Amino acid sequence: MNRRETDLLAELEALKRAVQDRDDFIAVAAHELRNPMTPLLARLERLMRRADRLRGTEADEILADLTELETAAHAFLRRATLLLDVSRVASGNFSVERGRVDLSATVRDVLDEVRTAALYAGSTIEAQLDSLVTGHWDGLAIRQIVENLVSNAIKYGDGKQIHVHVEYFDNDARLTVVDYGIGIPAADQARIFERFERAVPDHALGHHGGFGVGLWLSQRLANALGGDISVTSAPGDGSTFTLTLPLEGTAQRAPSEPSSSCRN
Ligand SMILES: Nc1ncnc2c1ncn2[C@@H]1O[C@H](COP(=O)(O)OP(=O)(O)OP(=O)(O)O)[C@@H](O)[C@H]1O
Ligand SMILES: [Mg+2]
Repeated sequence: MNRRETDLLAELEALKRAVQDRDDFIAVAAHELRNPMTPLLARLERLMRRADRLRGTEADEILADLTELETAAHAFLRRATLLLDVSRVASGNFSVERGRVDLSATVRDVLDEVRTAALYAGSTIEAQLDSLVTGHWDGLAIRQIVENLVSNAIKYGDGKQIHVHVEYFDNDARLTVVDYGIGIPAADQARIFERFERAVPDHALGHHGGFGVGLWLSQRLANALGGDISVTSAPGDGSTFTLTLPLEGTAQRAPSEPSSSCRN
């Protein structure tokens, strides 16, 4: 091996170490950010219960403030959990924990949690959640995917209406999240599923912050469950993200099961 090759190899090793250091740092930072949130949320809940028992305008105002704080704390927790899950998947330190998961119930929970964020963004969310769309998936992974797709629709949805649909389709479970926001140019639609890739136009970067990892993580998790996420979109018209999950080995829905619609 000549001198130049030795130098190149040393450089390559240094770069690999730097990437590993970055990923280790993200994992530690995510843990450190997440840990204080559990006692904080527990204390908040206790305070909310106390405020709820008191009577009068002041107690109502305190309860309203605490409720806002709780929403913000949950949003913070979601961001830290996203980072933690990203570092787990990136380091190969992730294994699927299968259990019975109700996709519509998960979506309903997530929509409840993001209701305030949607309100601030000016968007209403129309949800059609067919009942008993259940499978043998990973509950936390499914929740992570739903949170990412819904939060993207709110963030990039331009304050317009959002539609969320859970259904059986072709013997798969399917979640569709439709927004009418900024959309994504065709040339960017593949790379947004890569890690740290973003496609926000320069002029909108100030409004639309993000790590650029949500779709990468979601696609990895969907693939680990044998599923897939796809997108159709046009700039200015909005985007449709579709999560498909296979049902093999899972309970099938009774064919005549009714579906429920709700407005968030
Ligand atoms: N519904 C959507 N409408 C328009 N663009 C979108 C939508 N969802 C994703 N994108 C584009 O895809 C990119 C990648 O999305 P992803 O969720 O991975 O990252 P992010 O939203 O930028 O940050 P974070 O990782 O914090 O969620 C976004 O930066 C945005 O450019
Ligand atoms: Mg995102």
